[in-house]
Amino acid sequence: MKQSGQVILEYHERSKHHLRRYAPGPGYLDWANQPDPFRSYAGTRRIELRLGADGVATRFNDVRAGHSSAPAPLTCESVAILFELSFAISAWKSYLGRSWALRCNPSSGNLHPTEGYLIASDLPGLSAGVYHYVSRDHALEQRAVWTSPVPAIAHGVLIGIASIYWREAWKYGMRAFRYCQHDCGHAIAAVSYAAAALGWHTTMLDAAADDEVAALLGVDRSADYTGTEREEPDCLLWVGTADPPAIEPLVAAARAASWRGEANRLSPNHVEWPDIDRAHEATPKPGTTPHNRTTRPAALHLSVPRFDSAAATLYRQRRSAVDFDGATSIAAQAFYAMLEPLLPQPGAPPWNAWPWAPRVHLAIFAHRIEGLEPGVYVFVRDASALLPLKSAMARDWRWQKTGPAHLPLYLLWAHDTRDAAKLISCHQDIAADSCYALGMLASFHDVERSPWLYPRLYWECGMIGQTLYLEAEAAGIRATGIGCFFDDEMHRLLGLEDHQWQSLYHFTAGGAVEDERLTTLPPYA
Ligand SMILES: Cc1cc2nc3c(=O)[nH]c(=O)nc-3n(C[C@H](O)[C@H](O)[C@H](O)COP(=O)(O)O)c2cc1C
Repeated sequence: MKQSGQVILEYHERSKHHLRRYAPGPGYLDWANQPDPFRSYAGTRRIELRLGADGVATRFNDVRAGHSSAPAPLTCESVAILFELSFAISAWKSYLGRSWALRCNPSSGNLHPTEGYLIASDLPGLSAGVYHYVSRDHALEQRAVWTSPVPAIAHGVLIGIASIYWREAWKYGMRAFRYCQHDCGHAIAAVSYAAAALGWHTTMLDAAADDEVAALLGVDRSADYTGTEREEPDCLLWVGTADPPAIEPLVAAARAASWRGEANRLSPNHVEWPDIDRAHEATPKPGTTPHNRTTRPAALHLSVPRFDSAAATLYRQRRSAVDFDGATSIAAQAFYAMLEPLLPQPGAPPWNAWPWAPRVHLAIFAHRIEGLEPGVYVFVRDASALLPLKSAMARDWRWQKTGPAHLPLYLLWAHDTRDAAKLISCHQDIAADSCYALGMLASFHDVERSPWLYPRLYWECGMIGQTLYLEAEAAGIRATGIGCFFDDEMHRLLGLEDHQWQSLYHFTAGGAVEDERLTTLPPYA
């Protein structure tokens, strides 16, 4: 039998898009089976949440620099705001009688495989238990009531994340496992940013094993998913003002709790994607030693973006551009200001939620940045990666340090790379008509030995993506994640010949062209 490490590396190879052959997909869109974007649990007690985000005064510039505001009191109202600014609907779009919801967190194909959960002790307005969040209604469904003494969850709440792979597989087939992981990363960052607007810190409970996460969220309860799509456990985030609680007593309490609710069925029929099942089975997270997270470094000195928006406004105005004007440029200073928050900063979102050292770095195609030569640049998020990246890129690149001294940005090649960026991004114009496009280069060191790192590399990419989405809005431009790209064309361009570095997610930002045909409606009636 193959080792899990080999299985996941094979999945990675087979889920690559190639110039002449896309990764296996359904071949057409089976509209009759389009998955319901909203999960709900019949038979649960529902708690309608209030919409209170408009009342949050925190500025985005303070959030990104790690200046914490006075913590909001931990109540049902403030937890409602946490969801309103992370998993909630931010607008409805409609065209020719069809409507679809957009959310604070983006998602490949707007398919939203990510489900959010709350685990809380008694709060003003909310009794202790495990809750599922329904973004369509901005409501919580109580899945579990503790029956044993409530384990101590003080000065904070746990947010759980789970994924329904079918939602993405319906459209994207085999590559969907990757997209679900990107989306999870976006969601982690969205929670961390939302929490910071409330003066709360976010910490990933990185020691937890997948089966513990599953037990706490109730997604391991087969009987509640009879004939419906399963949810797979991703992670637990501690959001609050104190250190996180111990996980084991909570898991024991969840296993003994009284559970309610049956999951709705999202599609009448399904297509099996055994490669996704195998990728999932090859990457279970075991229990691991927790990372030390007691340090709370001081606030950062970041360059400020063009607009000083209210954080709650900025998070909800985030959108993907579907088209760029091919003309807008940004100043180099504005570009540097967008890169700064990508450096690991444990005192500010979203990296306060990330326990591991950076494993993902950027290869940037600069197109329209005033004061910066068009060309290929590399942004090395962790100094220890500089030499390995240099030696892995076989080509004789310049590696010329560029920009402010504190930014690890290197010019490899001064050249107009608009055509290359477009070609690599599955021929999408957005990669060429923007101010910049980029690929996220992840170190595959240790993935074969610890396959559970594989999804986490995508999470890190998704967190970078969420940061850049918000930074783009603050800079007065707009961004788009790019999941469709020709993996090995990117590697070939950079001269990456072995598998130690793989581009896992692409991204672009520029002057957006709005689609005037669409009508925008408020998120909730
Ligand atoms: C992981 C990921 C991959 C994406 N890939 C593409 C892409 O290849 N091309 C594109 O135009 N948009 C892409 N998008 C943008 C989504 O289509 C967009 O997030 C979704 O339609 C929801 O719209 P919103 O971001 O405005 O909320 C991607 C988004 C994510 C999160």
